[in-house]
Amino acid sequence: MLALALPLLLVAGALAPSPPDGAALYTTHCASCHAPQKWGTGDGPSLRGVGMASLDFYLMTGRMPAAEPWIEIAHRDERAGQGLPLDEIRALETYLAPTVAGGPPIPQVIANGDLVHGRALFSQNCQQCHGLAGEGGDLGLLDWAPSLERTSIAQVAEAIRVGPEQMPIFGPRQLSDADLDDVASYVVHLQTSQQPDFAPFRSSGPVPEGAVAYLAIIALVAFVFTFWRVDTPAIRREEAVRRDEGEKRG
Ligand code: HEC
Ligand code: HEC
Repeated sequence: MLALALPLLLVAGALAPSPPDGAALYTTHCASCHAPQKWGTGDGPSLRGVGMASLDFYLMTGRMPAAEPWIEIAHRDERAGQGLPLDEIRALETYLAPTVAGGPPIPQVIANGDLVHGRALFSQNCQQCHGLAGEGGDLGLLDWAPSLERTSIAQVAEAIRVGPEQMPIFGPRQLSDADLDDVASYVVHLQTSQQPDFAPFRSSGPVPEGAVAYLAIIALVAFVFTFWRVDTPAIRREEAVRRDEGEKRG
């Protein structure tokens, strides 16, 4: 029985795809720029202590492995990065975990954040570069903030903590973990709603309703005031009377 099962197991083992080897992937895809010892070269920075958030962001968005050193990969929304298959990304992450340790970890972000608060945070912290609806924009001097149309919620949270290139780093002091949930949820909301103005401002809340009442009062005052003004001026009425009289005479 065993004599029969053993060769079968060996064959099955040889046929099953072996998990990708992180060290080998690093040598093939990364070492030329980041150096075999990961301290970096003239073509790429050191990876020591950059944090898992950075490693995951650069790999998952297809920014790494870069095709050319120091080329701005995010330019014009079209990513030149090849992007590795997910299993290879995970193998590289496992292999590089001790190297990148010390930097920001991958944020644990929750998708159902507070959208109204998220929108306020977005307009304060992100809109000036990424645009009102996250459509991206020109930063001048050939710099470009990419559109947020296709990023996942995890990548939004990572970008906030990593601050790639010209994007500032937002640490937990500027944006707490709860803030991260709210603003990242709002970015994902923008992707589906196609427009920044969404229901919560129309439907409920004391502030918008108060604002509507306030506007109604202003309109009423303006209306009354306008008609009162048109009706009263004595001079105009006198003019009209005189004109009438003149016509009768003439
Ligand atoms: C052709 C050269 C090149 C190759 C190949 C390359 N990189 Fe990079 N890498 C760079 C350059 C240049 C930067 C800095 C530019 C930037 O931040 O966009 C960078 C930045 C990074 C960063 C961000 C570092 C930080 O300070 O946060 C990580 C992480 C990274 N690379 C990982 C990798 C991994 C993993 C691979 C292999 C799968 C790889 N890179 C392949 C050139 C390269
Ligand atoms: C000063 C301008 C600036 C501000 C402010 C800014 N960003 Fe960015 N952001 C950038 C630039 C530039 C990049 C591209 C960097 C790169 O490719 O390495 C970027 C990249 C990103 C990406 C990656 C998109 C992708 O998939 O390619 C996300 C997500 C992101 N930003 C979200 C945010 C959020 C959320 C905020 C507010 C909390 C924010 N950014 C604030 C300039 C900015």
